[in-house]
Amino acid sequence: MNSKQIFENNKNWVASKLAEDENYFENLAKDHTPELLYIGCSDSRVPAEYLMGIEPGDVFVHRNIANMVSDKDLNVMSVLNYAVDYLKINHIVVCGHYYCGGVKAAMEKSDFGDLNPWLKKIQNVYKIHKEELNAITSEEIKYKRLIELNVKEQCKNIINTKVVQKALTKRNIKVHGWVFDIKTGKLKNIND
Ligand code: CO
Repeated sequence: MNSKQIFENNKNWVASKLAEDENYFENLAKDHTPELLYIGCSDSRVPAEYLMGIEPGDVFVHRNIANMVSDKDLNVMSVLNYAVDYLKINHIVVCGHYYCGGVKAAMEKSDFGDLNPWLKKIQNVYKIHKEELNAITSEEIKYKRLIELNVKEQCKNIINTKVVQKALTKRNIKVHGWVFDIKTGKLKNIND
């Protein structure tokens, strides 16, 4: 992929949007009132808007390696604060995905240098659920289960943040846990 091609793609995209609605970008520039905050993995195979079939303006997005939420991470906490306090978003989703490289690296326990502190957070999720995970003999199933449990733990971390706890005294906020299966393209709801 070269940048020339990207700018060419962009030109075509602008033309197709304007063909549908000549005021499309003018309206887009006015404001945004997304109803969903999406916290997902940075993996190139898991493009948030694309897989949900939604358009610019529909979702506020934060992505990092393995869709982690920590109250010590200024980046994710700023996104969460802005989404809850200013955009007044009532639906927050943590979307993990099968075949997540971050989760795999955390399971390998090799030395990944500067990535080690980040992977430690995923290893901590393993520790919380080690009894269940150690009982799984298939590495593939264990890997998938850790991905699901990681999403559940990050949902809990969101609910436990100050900003969400404060907002919950005034309104209802729903936190959703999803997993995207790259092999089928399907989203799986793991809350129910
Ligand atoms: Co990933």
